[in-house]
Amino acid sequence: MAQTYEAVTKVWIAPGCIVCDACETECPEVFDVQEETCVIRPPAKDADFTKPLTPAIKAAAEGCPVDVIKFEMVQVEGAAPWEGKEAATAEAGVKSGGGAASGAATKKQTVIPEGPPDPKWAGLLAKSHVSGSRSGGGPRVSMLRAAKAPPQAVAEALPPGAPPDARDAAMVGSGFARPRPGVVDRIRSRAGGIASGMTLSRRQFSIAAALAWAAMAATAATALAAVQAFFVPKVTKEPPSVMRVGKLSDFPEPGVYEQYKPVGIWIVYLPNGELVALSTICTHLGCIPNWLPGDKIFKCPCHGSGYYQDGVNFEGPAPRPLERYKVTLDGDWVVVDKSVKFRQELKQWDLPGAFLTV
Ligand code: SF4
Ligand code: FES
Repeated sequence: MAQTYEAVTKVWIAPGCIVCDACETECPEVFDVQEETCVIRPPAKDADFTKPLTPAIKAAAEGCPVDVIKFEMVQVEGAAPWEGKEAATAEAGVKSGGGAASGAATKKQTVIPEGPPDPKWAGLLAKSHVSGSRSGGGPRVSMLRAAKAPPQAVAEALPPGAPPDARDAAMVGSGFARPRPGVVDRIRSRAGGIASGMTLSRRQFSIAAALAWAAMAATAATALAAVQAFFVPKVTKEPPSVMRVGKLSDFPEPGVYEQYKPVGIWIVYLPNGELVALSTICTHLGCIPNWLPGDKIFKCPCHGSGYYQDGVNFEGPAPRPLERYKVTLDGDWVVVDKSVKFRQELKQWDLPGAFLTV
């Protein structure tokens, strides 16, 4: 029977990518992990490009933690081009001492050296109890009162990355330091002393008065800001909905003109001689697609929706074409009105205003 193998002819990303980078690490020729989602690189839309990358694509799909990498395969006659290479790679991995019989043999392994425990640290542990950290930075060690180790020994015995609270706890626990009350505690104890007849020096009185005034001023400022935020109207400045986007002569050839993308408009001069104003908002969840001049498509970076130059969707989760804005002529000037929209699925693209005939 003739030998056959399976080869990937189409690969795509389903919604739900969590941008973990795993696929791009596995197969950077095909996967391009962007800010919001992973996309398939344009060359990988060609079956001849993906076929030789079949093992890497399958590995990336298996490694995807949310299982959003989808692909199609076909049976191809003959021996798989990567067959010999896989065996050679595995052999190389074994020879180099990696020990794994796969491509993963080349990955770095962390070796934890074996050996007797550090006697200084072991001795300290015997006299101490260790609990989980509250600061999240390392262990917290409290020395038993009986263990009167010198402070230097305590400091040296702690792990190098031990947080300050672990160091303080160890010093206090071993009896070489005592906790110092905070500012609030000191004011409280002073207030208690005054109540019980204790006198306050002029300097202490000035500090207490300044603190009290500062607290009152902060409270008043916060209240004032809240009142102001309530009464002052919230105004957002938006560009006008009707705007001149240039003269007809500014759009001399068929193509996509991106000067007005910052205000949400692509001016598209279609090959059939129509000039249209396309909305830059993806009809899936509202991201802003990119114009890819090489492929002559709009591609949404969020979940991979694709639109042709005329705004019609052809791939990804977008449910309908991009919207078009009203476009008219005022003398030579092309005027776009963003408050009037035309939707293809409602058969509005043939209505007056949905396009200009150039
Ligand atoms: S497609 Fe999967 S593996 Fe790739 S970045 Fe998204 S979640 Fe990660
Ligand atoms: S594809 Fe989801 S927002 Fe564009």
